[in-house]
Amino acid sequence: MTIRAVVKGVGHYLPARTVPNSEFEGKVETSDEWIRARTGIERRHFAAEGETTSDLGAAAARAALADAGLEADALDAIIVATSTPDLTFPSVATMVQAKIGMTRGFAFDVQAVCAGYVYALANANALILSGQARRVLVIGAETFSRILDFTDRSTCVLFGDGAGAVVLEAVGGTGTTEDRGILSTDLNSDGSYRDLLYVDGGVSTSGTAGHLRMQGNQVFRHAVEKLAETAHTALAKVGLDGGDVDWIVPHQANIRIIEGTAKRMQVPMERVVVTVQDHGNTSAASIPLALSVGKERGQIKEGDLLVTEAIGGGLAWGSVVLRW
Ligand code: ACO
Repeated sequence: MTIRAVVKGVGHYLPARTVPNSEFEGKVETSDEWIRARTGIERRHFAAEGETTSDLGAAAARAALADAGLEADALDAIIVATSTPDLTFPSVATMVQAKIGMTRGFAFDVQAVCAGYVYALANANALILSGQARRVLVIGAETFSRILDFTDRSTCVLFGDGAGAVVLEAVGGTGTTEDRGILSTDLNSDGSYRDLLYVDGGVSTSGTAGHLRMQGNQVFRHAVEKLAETAHTALAKVGLDGGDVDWIVPHQANIRIIEGTAKRMQVPMERVVVTVQDHGNTSAASIPLALSVGKERGQIKEGDLLVTEAIGGGLAWGSVVLRW
C-alpha cells in the first residue's frame, strides 16, 4: 500500500482592514489604473496594529481544523511557512501551537519567502511518507505590510497580509495518480540571485527587521520561465502534463506572471484559481489562501488534479502536484 498525504481540511483568515489601490495615490506617485494594469491587484488586506503573523496563522488553523472536523490534539505536527515572524524566535509554529491549544506533537517554521508554502507542503509530505507524522497542519501566514517601505512605489503597492492552512493526513492509496493526496513535489533554489529580492535588515546585520527591496522586472523574467519549468517537472515525475490539470493554483504575485505561466503550460485561464485582485501578494500565504477561496467559490472539488507553483526571494521556487 502507498501512503499519501491527503487534504482533510482547508481554511483561511484575512485581516479586517481592506486597502484599495486608491489609498496609495497621493502617498507615492502611482495610480489605481497603473497598479491594476501592471499587476492585476485591486485591493489587499493589512493587519491591524498589534495583530501578528501567529494571530493570522492561528485563525486560519482553526478554520482548517473545523473544516477537517478535528481537534488540535489530533495533529502530530504544525509547519508554518513565513518570512515575517512575530519574533526572531520562538517559531511562529510554536506560537500557533499554543494559541490553538495543541498540547502534543511538534512545530517549526520554514522560510523560503514566496515559495515557502510549496517548501512546507514538501516537508509535510516527507514527514507523512516517512511515518514521522500522521496529521500535519501546514500554514502559510504573513504580515508583509510590516516590512514594506511605504515611500517605494515599486514595492509598497504589491503586498498584503493574510494566512491560509491545510490539514494533511496519511491515507492509504493505490500508488497511481488516481489517488487523492500529494503526488509529486519539485524544489529549487539559486542563491546567486540574492540581490534581486531581499530584505535590507536582519538579526546578524542591521539588528532591525529591514525593508523589502526588489528588482521587479528581473524577478518577473525569472518567474514565468522557472514556474512553468518546475510545474512541468513535477507533473512529468508522475507521467502527467498540463492537459491533465484541473486547476493551477499559483502563487499570486502578478496576473501577468500567472497568465504567462498558464500559457507556457498550455492551460487556459478558466482552469487557474486567481485571487491576486483581492489579496495582493501575500507571499507564503498566497497559495493556501487561493486553495481555501478556490474551494469556497466551488472551483476546486474532491478528485480534481491541482498543481501549485511559486517563486520568491533566494531565488527559491518549486511546485507540488496533488489530487484534492
Ligand atoms: N506606480 C506607477 N509607476 C510605477 C510603479 C507604481 N506603483 N512602480 C513602478 N513604476 C514605474 C517604474 O518606476 C518604471 O518607470 P520608468 O520606466 O520611468 O523607470 C515603470 O513603472 C516600469 O517599471 P518596471 O519595474 O519595468 O515595471 P513592470 O512592468 O516590470 O512591473 C512589477 C513591475 C509589477 C513589480 C513586476 O515587475 C512584477 O510583478 N515583478 C515580479 C514580482 C514577483 O513576482 N516577486 C516574486 C515574489 S515576491 C517575494 O518573494 C517576496
